[in-house]
Amino acid sequence: MLYIGSHTVKELAKSRETRVTIVDNFCGGDFDSISVLQKLFEVGKFEFVLLDLSEFKKLEELFRESHFDAIIHFAAHLQVGESVQNPLKYYRNNTMNTINLIDMALKYGVNYFIFSSSAAVYGEPIEIPISETHPKKPINPYGLSKWMSEQILQDATNSNPNFKYVALRYFNVAGASSDGSLGESHTPETHLIPLIAQSALGKRQSIVVFGDDYDTFDGSCIRDYIHIEDLALAHIKALEYLANNNPSDSFNCGYGHGYSVFEVIEMVKKISGVDFKVNIAPRREGDPAQLVANNHKIVTQMGWKPHYDDLEKICKSAWEWEKL
Ligand SMILES: NC(=O)c1ccc[n+]([C@@H]2O[C@H](COP(=O)([O-])OP(=O)(O)OC[C@H]3O[C@@H](n4cnc5c(N)ncnc54)[C@H](O)[C@@H]3O)[C@@H](O)[C@H]2O)c1
Repeated sequence: MLYIGSHTVKELAKSRETRVTIVDNFCGGDFDSISVLQKLFEVGKFEFVLLDLSEFKKLEELFRESHFDAIIHFAAHLQVGESVQNPLKYYRNNTMNTINLIDMALKYGVNYFIFSSSAAVYGEPIEIPISETHPKKPINPYGLSKWMSEQILQDATNSNPNFKYVALRYFNVAGASSDGSLGESHTPETHLIPLIAQSALGKRQSIVVFGDDYDTFDGSCIRDYIHIEDLALAHIKALEYLANNNPSDSFNCGYGHGYSVFEVIEMVKKISGVDFKVNIAPRREGDPAQLVANNHKIVTQMGWKPHYDDLEKICKSAWEWEKL
């Protein structure tokens, strides 16, 4: 449902001058958020184009006929496990289609490019919190597809100094908008907080915890959950950063501290008042014990200030959305 993209477009709509064109093939979900977003813009300032980024000729037609100042590129496949089973699907969609977009940017003079990267570029962390200089050793094709895209963006910048990019390395994105208009839904849903909320609602029989024997305080994995509205704001900051003539770079997006899977489950139980079933399964391959961002760089260089750094707020917004 273009989860992160929808919330970012909602944030962009706060500036009345902004015109937005959304391109999506809806392989990741439904059309619900498009009608919500359309209402936020004046007539003529919002366009939706149903298009697969691999359709090069149609993509080129769009760029030839439009004048874009910036590209914010969210489109990707994002299931780590599937990327191990079907790596070419990931390299084709996440890396090759990113090349298509960079190609359009260079050819049609779109000089600002914001890229949705991931903590998966780091692989198994050797230090926590993880800073941007941490070695990049992805342990699955999803992470590698993102890291390759970042390197291609760097090469594109080197060859064309007018073209500049920001890669935002998201940690675990979660939650819904505070006004309840947009939430999180993926097809299929694989993200922890919606899955827990669905368990509390009885839409799932139980929540499965993959591994309770990690070297963490309660044995479950620790992740840095960032509220979707704080992440949406990071994209606006990234556009400002580029417009202020700063150099291309990559930035972590997280709060700098994490919560365990059991802590998140307990929080949703508290908020919902429902004591749902929790099953323990063996560890999944490639799940590091901890993924926590060092966010110093985005805070100091972009002036990004989070407003929802609170697990209760994140889970509450997700719960309210899931109940609708
Ligand atoms: N959600 C997270 O926690 C998280 C964490 C790290 C990185 N990311 C990255 O953030 C980005 C957005 O993630 P999301 O959670 O919003 O996922 P999402 O599935 O909600 O959004 C991705 C959108 O891309 C579209 N898409 C995919 N391939 C396309 C193609 N070839 N042509 C046109 N549209 C296409 C899908 O239909 C979907 O609407 C992805 O690049 C993902 O890898 C997400």
